[in-house]
This record gives sequence, C-alpha cells and structure tokens, in this order.
Amino acid sequence: LVLLAGFPSVALAWDGAASWYNPANGGNAPPGDKNAIMPGGGGIFGTGGARDYNITCANCHLDDKKQQGQIAIDFAFNPPQPMVNGVAGYTPGTTYTITATLSGEHLGLSGCGPYVTGNINNFAASFESSGGLSAGVLASDSGQSSANCGKTTPMAGRTTLLYGDCHAIFSDDGDMADLGRTTWSFSWTAPSAGAGTITMYYGAVDGDCMMDSFGDDVKTGNKRFPEATAALAPRPRPYAFAFLLLLPLALLWRQRRR
Ligand code: HEC
Repeated sequence: LVLLAGFPSVALAWDGAASWYNPANGGNAPPGDKNAIMPGGGGIFGTGGARDYNITCANCHLDDKKQQGQIAIDFAFNPPQPMVNGVAGYTPGTTYTITATLSGEHLGLSGCGPYVTGNINNFAASFESSGGLSAGVLASDSGQSSANCGKTTPMAGRTTLLYGDCHAIFSDDGDMADLGRTTWSFSWTAPSAGAGTITMYYGAVDGDCMMDSFGDDVKTGNKRFPEATAALAPRPRPYAFAFLLLLPLALLWRQRRR
C-alpha cells in the first residue's frame, strides 16, 4: 500500500498495471533508494496458461476454505460461439466481444475502512494454442490491441488493459470508478483456420479490501474451444459418373458384335 500526498493509492492486483511486470525482487536498488521499485509479478499474470508458467491467482491468493469457493466468472461471447460436437468453440478469424462477469461477490461489500483503497475485484485471461503459444488477437476496451502491442495509450472509461508483451487481458483497476466492478469487456479475434483447439485460461479474485493476497475469494479455470470448420460444400462423389467411362466401351463392343 502506497500513500501519495495523503491520498490512498488505488490498490490493484498490484499497485498499478506496471506492477504485473515489475521484477519480482524489486530490481537492483535497495528498498528506500530513490530508484527502488515495488516488487511485482515479473510479467506473470497468473492466468494458468503456459505463458504464465501455469501459475494461477490461487497460487498467491491462497486457498482458504473459510472464504473461498463462492465466486464464479462467466464469459459471454458476442457473436455466440458455434457449437462443435456439443462444445462451445470458435469460428476462425471471427472477432468476439467478450463480457466477463464475476458472480457471487461476497467480500468487501460492506465498505472498506478509511485507510484502504476500497473493494477491488480483478480478473485476467489468456488464449493459447495446444503448443502453449498465444493464439489470436486480444483487444482491451481501452483501444489497445495485442497486434500492435505497446503502441497505444489506453483511454479513460475502460474496463480492461493490455500491458507488457500483451499475452493476457486483465481488468483495469486504476480509477475510483473501477472499485467494486464485477463486469469487464474485451475482444478476442480467433486465429485463422487450422489453429485447432484453443484454450482460454482465466482467474478472478473477489478482494476483501485488505490489498494483500490473503482473505480473498478466488476462482481459476480454463475452457477448451474446438475450431469450427467451415461448412463444406457437398463433396463431388468421384465414382458417380464412372459409368460414363464405360459407355464408349459398351458402344464399341456392340458395334463389333454386329
Ligand atoms: C505472484 C503472486 C500473485 C499472483 C499470481 C496474483 N496475485 Fe493478486 N495480489 C498479489 C499481491 C502481493 C497483492 C497485494 C498487492 C499490493 O499490496 O499492492 C495482490 C492483490 C490483489 C487484489 C486486491 C486484493 C484485496 O484484498 O483488495 C486483487 C483483486 C488481485 N490481487 C487479483 C488477482 C487476480 C485476478 C490474479 C490472477 C489473474 C492474481 N491477483 C494473481 C499477489 C498475486
């Protein structure tokens, strides 16, 4: 928790988007030095994917049955996902606007004390191929795109951000307006045909006002999206007209018998 000029900093998964990328050891400067930085996540968002070394939010937001297991997070796709053998999949090249909604929030609702920033909830998600590489293009609702990573400055009024190498989308929590938020919006453009099954890795935390990784509720998971193959034009049946080849032979044979 950092207090700046008497204003409580807005607390975050870390204290600001950059904290996800601050070195985990806080850098080379000793604590208190003017160049010292807050230790951070070292570029690991904790979505659970290979790009995050399979680390999830629950590795730090420690499992405690007293307050955990009550929240859920749902991802609504627009346009709706195609069904592939009864499983929600994706159509190659389609851009899906995705609304993430945390339900069952039960922590931090009664109002936080004066010295803490407030009720912070967060989520992060990543999309990976079966080979563990980032798949498709992520875009925040602040106008950033992973196809143009780091080139755009986020605009106000956003709910999601990209940062660093843009391998994960995560909730913006830098404004007072973000306090208590449980709905976030972003988009994902599916890769072109042939990418195969894509896995979405995700995690969400219902913060308890304390701005640490204890006492929170956490939900982590992943969903496998099979690729919908384009409806095939009826395949020509190769032998359907084979009898035509026999016709000249048949005629020839008839003629010879005359
Ligand atoms: C490497 C450990 C680590 C991982 C992984 C991690 N967090 Fe955190 N989280 C922390 C720490 C440490 C804090 C306190 C930060 C501070 O004081 O600024 C925190 C704080 C938070 C808070 C504020 C909690 C409160 O009580 O107000 C939320 C919300 C949060 N994290 C969400 C997430 C989500 C969502 C994920 C997974 C996508 C995640 N975190 C993954 C370590 C982690």
